[in-house]
Amino acid sequence: MLKRAKIIGELGNGMYGTTYTADVDGITYCMKVQKILAKDKKKSFNSPLWRELDLYAAISKMPKSDSKFLSCMYDWDFIDDCIHVQKRQHKIKDKRFAEEIKKLDESNVCVRYLTELKPGESLHDHMKKNKISEKEFCALMLQIIKMHMVLADHGYAHGDLHPGNIMTSRCKSENYKLLNYTLATGKYRLSAIDYGEVIHKKFKQKLGNGSKRFFTDTDKYLMDEVMFMAHNFAFGWVKIVDKCGWNGVNTWNKATYKLFKKHPEFIQTAKYKYYDIFPEGVDEIEKFLKKIDKEFVNAGEFIKSSYSWDIINRLIYEFGANYPETYADYWKLCIVPKVIHKEMFLMILMISSIAGVIEYLKDRM
Ligand SMILES: Nc1ncnc2c1ncn2[C@@H]1O[C@H](COP(=O)(O)OP(=O)(O)O)[C@@H](O)[C@H]1O
Ligand SMILES: [Mg+2]
Repeated sequence: MLKRAKIIGELGNGMYGTTYTADVDGITYCMKVQKILAKDKKKSFNSPLWRELDLYAAISKMPKSDSKFLSCMYDWDFIDDCIHVQKRQHKIKDKRFAEEIKKLDESNVCVRYLTELKPGESLHDHMKKNKISEKEFCALMLQIIKMHMVLADHGYAHGDLHPGNIMTSRCKSENYKLLNYTLATGKYRLSAIDYGEVIHKKFKQKLGNGSKRFFTDTDKYLMDEVMFMAHNFAFGWVKIVDKCGWNGVNTWNKATYKLFKKHPEFIQTAKYKYYDIFPEGVDEIEKFLKKIDKEFVNAGEFIKSSYSWDIINRLIYEFGANYPETYADYWKLCIVPKVIHKEMFLMILMISSIAGVIEYLKDRM
């Protein structure tokens, strides 16, 4: 099919690839082109490319009721004399990363994928343009959980599921199953795209602590993902990223240190709310506070050597929802987040299982 594809327009460009609309025999598809190193043509799950292709193959075997929350691929190929030039939105600051990217830009091999064109816009754009009502927040969150669970049922995790990698298509409400419930999509159906960092046991990937937990405790892993999306909605992160840019991990470490150092009384009180969810986490927080009292502690390093990832994040989110101005100051945000549906968000923060979150959201829909 790709041999007959004609590019019609451009949908977007990221760090690695450019996404186009393309016509094949009168039907419009989505076509992604990206530079790869010649060595990556050889099949290996060390390369994200081959992990993504593996997931696409699995999706093509899923029942439609599952795959409709994802996106399908119809064809792919390599081009050896590829003249594609990658445009990028952001300058690369990290030197080593810049060198890696330079190698890719200099390569003359490309991979092209032909995928299903989802109507509508990305959830990122949708959230930027629209006020999300409480009911819609629930409908969207439930579908995001569905996406994660479909992938997990087949042994996969997306690895990079954020609002820019979800398409929002207007549709007639459709029913779908989640646990034992029959739920309605509401006005929009969500589907995941851009599976760049696919996770599966068979890949034998080296993973960070957060992702490793996908295999040891899937429910906890999914909870973190769900909390990440909930705080993304609640704090209007799409607006923050667009206005302020994203300065990443360094800010997170310093800001977390400041929060814990300057507000121990908040932490001491708040931590007990999470005792049921994470009893060990409460002791770990105690250790963290003691250490911080004496010296600067890199929160990321501390978390690597402990289990406290989810409790620390929940405390940060809770603090942010209650003190958005201080939060904006510590995280060096150029605007103060307008926290939407704060009560609901604080409730979700205290739920201990995915089943519990689903139950809560479904009752509010
Ligand atoms: N299958 C698709 N259907 C419709 N639009 C798409 C599709 N895939 C990507 N897009 C659009 O193109 C943008 C960039 O695509 P994406 O695959 O996320 O690449 P990257 O993040 O590497 O730039 C998306 O945010 C979305 O707006
Ligand atoms: Mg993307």
